[in-house]
Amino acid sequence: MIPQAVRAEAAALHEQIARANRAYYELDAPELSDAEWDRLFRRLQAIETEYPELASGDSPTRRVGGTPATHLPKHRHLRPMLSLANAFSDEELAAWEQRNARIAPTVLDAGYTVEVKIDGTAVCLTYAGGTLVTGATRGNGAVGEDVTANLRTIDDIPLELRGTGWPALMEVRGEVYFPLESFRKLNARREREGEPAFANPRNAAAGALRQLDPATTRSRRLRCFAFQAVPIHGTLTATTHAAMLATLGRWGFEIEPHHARCVDLPQVIRHVAAIEQLLPELPFGADGVVVKVDRRDLQEELGTISDREPRWAIARKFAPEVAITRLLAIRVNVGRTGALAPYAVLEPVELGGVTISSATLHNEDVVAQKDVRVGDWVEVIRAGEVIPKIVGPLRERRDGSELAWTPPATCPACGTPAVRYPDEVMRYCPNPVCPGRTLEAISHFASRDAMDIRGLGEERARQLLGAGLIHSVADLYTLTAEQLARLDRFAEQSASQLVVAIAASKAQPLSALLYGLGIRHVGKTVAQALARHFGTLARLRAADEPAIAAAHGAGPTIAAAVRAWAADPRTTALLDRLVSLGLTTTEPQASPGSGPLTGMTFVLTGTLPTLTRSEVASRIEQAGGTVTSSVSKKTTTLVAGGDAGTKLDRARRFGVEVIDEAELLRRAGPQT
Ligand code: IVH
Repeated sequence: MIPQAVRAEAAALHEQIARANRAYYELDAPELSDAEWDRLFRRLQAIETEYPELASGDSPTRRVGGTPATHLPKHRHLRPMLSLANAFSDEELAAWEQRNARIAPTVLDAGYTVEVKIDGTAVCLTYAGGTLVTGATRGNGAVGEDVTANLRTIDDIPLELRGTGWPALMEVRGEVYFPLESFRKLNARREREGEPAFANPRNAAAGALRQLDPATTRSRRLRCFAFQAVPIHGTLTATTHAAMLATLGRWGFEIEPHHARCVDLPQVIRHVAAIEQLLPELPFGADGVVVKVDRRDLQEELGTISDREPRWAIARKFAPEVAITRLLAIRVNVGRTGALAPYAVLEPVELGGVTISSATLHNEDVVAQKDVRVGDWVEVIRAGEVIPKIVGPLRERRDGSELAWTPPATCPACGTPAVRYPDEVMRYCPNPVCPGRTLEAISHFASRDAMDIRGLGEERARQLLGAGLIHSVADLYTLTAEQLARLDRFAEQSASQLVVAIAASKAQPLSALLYGLGIRHVGKTVAQALARHFGTLARLRAADEPAIAAAHGAGPTIAAAVRAWAADPRTTALLDRLVSLGLTTTEPQASPGSGPLTGMTFVLTGTLPTLTRSEVASRIEQAGGTVTSSVSKKTTTLVAGGDAGTKLDRARRFGVEVIDEAELLRRAGPQT
């Protein structure tokens, strides 16, 4: 039994971390310091190690959609990875040159290399004998995370160097980035699937690099530019930075194409201005240029400032593109879970080559914190970011006619009183059949991981709603091919195909239905856990909160949300209707006694080399075995990893067989 206090603490940590992750990755407005985040994350990990049952699939320790996965092995760089000082004007660049000239006067006429500063995430690639042996993130500069398997999926990174002349051991530094086009596609897809968009390509790249499954990283199609080779054993023949870039190119790396050698600072300044002009057209995010003293002997002579940043390189940052415009109204968008998200309606204004007429305000706390009012003049920026952001109001331009905004007391779409749950920044419309959430709700219901209705994307859903043919997901099941064929852009064939696809979706298991219904806090994994645990919709509907909380992976927060949903008379009506329309309301149970591990009871201990505990547990269960938390006479096998403690001693005392992860995987057989 897991003590209630532990469950509650885990649930609270779960929410706190998820919320901090959202603030960091989606809103680009960190709420916690790195240290604080780490502390919470480690505490949650510790609890989940003690009680693996709590490590639900949607725990932040398991979710790495854009979330840092701190369980990645650490990697110590052979030489520190430095950061860069910034210059925000040409004068600051000149001052930098003067400072350097006092140390090494020859810098004045030795020349510079100028490169675009890519807005991605820094990586360090170790090559031994010309073979890629490790790839790591920058981390704190001294220690990063080992993401070798993920970096190996990036085609721009050579696994074996081409040509000749590389040092026996060296680190190559570069920037992994998300091309803007794939970034936009990724965000469009995430929005379609009801997942929040990434605030910028940098976060998306960092998230993609820290995935647990390299196949996911590969699917994101990351790219990489190399900009530095650091010899550890052996030497480089290149005596200048420009020559080093050319060498990296010959070895098989991609090099940022706009780099140039400039003879002196005035030429640097002209090249910087030219790059600034190009910025809106670049296929990758860039937040400035990097100016580097070209001669490597002078770089050496100039050295670094307390091992943190080099004197010989500086980032010349561009001022973000800014526009000033009028905030005409603050409106609220109803998301598929009922979240009420405020956004600003702006007087259309051009910013970075596109006309913008709205910008998200995220949630009511952001509105209050920025103190934006209807009628305000506001500053809007795009700082290498794709999504425009409201910086704040120009208070000095106020004339007293501006109106402070109050969050709506009722849902703007259906009038139901809005609710704000403790510890959540969003206000919600609790009406499960609110028409405001219908559009997103229907496309989510039809999405692949839910009811998988091919041919029913957002466009089609909008059309069906607009034509008044459907008002809720249940209405989908009453559509006829004749009705559809009368609509624009519906050929007879596609109309009957859609009707067939809708009918076929009735056979989707209960877990897909639960996920598709968009219950607050119920993602794919929780839906599966609930469906498996209860087996039928009727049993889930009849369950009280403690019974729901007892389902594998569900905690008190989820239980409360599911119970509130099930008890709502509007849910009751919807579910009754879906049942009468003939939807499947059961979950096929993994038949016990069917796998190679049938009849065996396992206990896990210590740190396993490649899989997390919950991954191992699910492999065992898939193969028919049972996992328990402590060693007893019933235990048949102990799976032990590094630092195994008392459980190992106990297992030996009971004469329980002890195996390692590799042996377990061999016995469990191929994954189903
Ligand atoms: S040089 C000692 N060159 O910017 C050399 N950095 O703000 C230090 N970056 O961590 C880095 N493009 O991730 C360098 N052409 C470029 C770059 C670049 C992007 C990133 C890099 C670094 C950060 C420093």
